[in-house]
Amino acid sequence: MAASLRPLFLAIIPLLMISSLIRSSEGEGVGFYWGQSLHDENLAEMCNNSMYRYAVLASLYLEGNRPVLNMDDKCNPSYPAGCAYLGHMIDFCKAQGIKVLLSLGGRPDLSSDDAHNVAEYIWNNFLSNNSGPGPLNATVDGIDFRIQSGSNQSLDVLAQALRNYSTPERKVYLSAAPLCQIPDYYLDDAIKTGVFDHVWVQFFGDPSCKFYPPIWIAWYCYLDKYNTTLSLGITRNPDTDGFIPCDDLFTRTFFVVQFPKFGTLMVFEGKYECNFSSGVLLASGKKSMNKFSAID
Ligand SMILES: *[C@@H]1O[C@H](CO)[C@@H](O)[C@H](O)[C@H]1NC(C)=O
Ligand SMILES: *[C@@H]1O[C@H](CO)[C@@H](O)[C@H](O)[C@H]1NC(C)=O
Ligand SMILES: *[C@@H]1O[C@H](CO)[C@@H](O)[C@H](O)[C@H]1NC(C)=O
Ligand SMILES: *[C@@H]1O[C@H](CO)[C@@H](O)[C@H](O)[C@H]1NC(C)=O
Ligand SMILES: *[C@@H]1O[C@H](CO)[C@@H](O)[C@H](O)[C@H]1NC(C)=O
Ligand SMILES: *[C@@H]1O[C@H](CO)[C@@H](O)[C@H](O)[C@H]1NC(C)=O
Ligand SMILES: *[C@@H]1O[C@H](CO)[C@@H](O)[C@H](O)[C@H]1NC(C)=O
Repeated sequence: MAASLRPLFLAIIPLLMISSLIRSSEGEGVGFYWGQSLHDENLAEMCNNSMYRYAVLASLYLEGNRPVLNMDDKCNPSYPAGCAYLGHMIDFCKAQGIKVLLSLGGRPDLSSDDAHNVAEYIWNNFLSNNSGPGPLNATVDGIDFRIQSGSNQSLDVLAQALRNYSTPERKVYLSAAPLCQIPDYYLDDAIKTGVFDHVWVQFFGDPSCKFYPPIWIAWYCYLDKYNTTLSLGITRNPDTDGFIPCDDLFTRTFFVVQFPKFGTLMVFEGKYECNFSSGVLLASGKKSMNKFSAID
């Protein structure tokens, strides 16, 4: 793939140089997944940091056609109001201008009817408070798809059904977190519906998913016809394949922020701890990469 994409990469460089002059400040910032790691900080403390733009709460598990909240040690949804204490933190995050999304995981096995029912359940319990406060005692801004097992059936229907709840007054944000291979077995049909606002590709977890420019460009071209941003999904766990140390992160990835539809840096695992104090940045990359930093 690297070889076949090389001409494309070379052709795209002049475009990038032009687009970097005209790009808007739509993207930028850092996002984080929260809920599945013992090392997560308090959610409100995480959101009390101006570098963050997205908080993705993990997860609402789909067990077959049954959605079950599973936030590891964070809360126990089987007790009444067991997760309600998160509500004021979610509201705090939203008040900081951070978009809060609830991530779908687990092992779905959905018929088309199931997908409509699950969408309605999610709308009633997490996206609207029409029928009273939901399990989180707060509403989220949108739904993230991070499906890596189960059946790939009807996830496209689920995404469209959720999109159908979006109105100009109340936008429902949708994001997808595919693994790095194109097409993604679970999410490809859903991505092709074009309903996602954000796609954060996981460039870790497998030796073949180490971040390098041709995979990024392949995703960029693949998503080109949709109105979606493309984000760089990373791990901060040094034991995971594809981990990039802070010093290398900026030099190896600084070019991605030049893409007009670049979204954000999405931290799937661990805590984002990189900053610019080390002075390793190329002068040309520094300005762009300040978008990932709390200190500018
Ligand atoms: C946010 O940070 C400010 C300043 O450090 C602090 O006073 C405030 O208590 C923090 N709020 C939360 C919810 O952590
Ligand atoms: C739910 O949120 C409301 C305000 O939004 C608050 O008054 C109430 O105490 C919260 N419930 C729990 C169980 O935390
Ligand atoms: C619940 O709905 C009311 C009225 O639409 C709104 O003012 C309030 O912010 C909502 N609460 C949450 C937690 O979204
Ligand atoms: C499920 O995966 C198979 C094999 O890749 C593919 O042919 C099929 O289109 C996928 N179905 C959906 C609904 O994504
Ligand atoms: C979404 O709404 C469109 C337009 O009303 C409709 O054609 C489509 O069937 C709906 N899709 C789902 C999955 O509900
Ligand atoms: C594309 O997405 C942006 C940001 O979500 C939105 O403001 C805009 O209306 C969308 N454009 C179209 C054509 O859907
Ligand atoms: C980032 O900067 C803080 C102080 O500003 C420092 O304590 C920390 O070690 C730095 N992190 C890295 C990874 O360089």
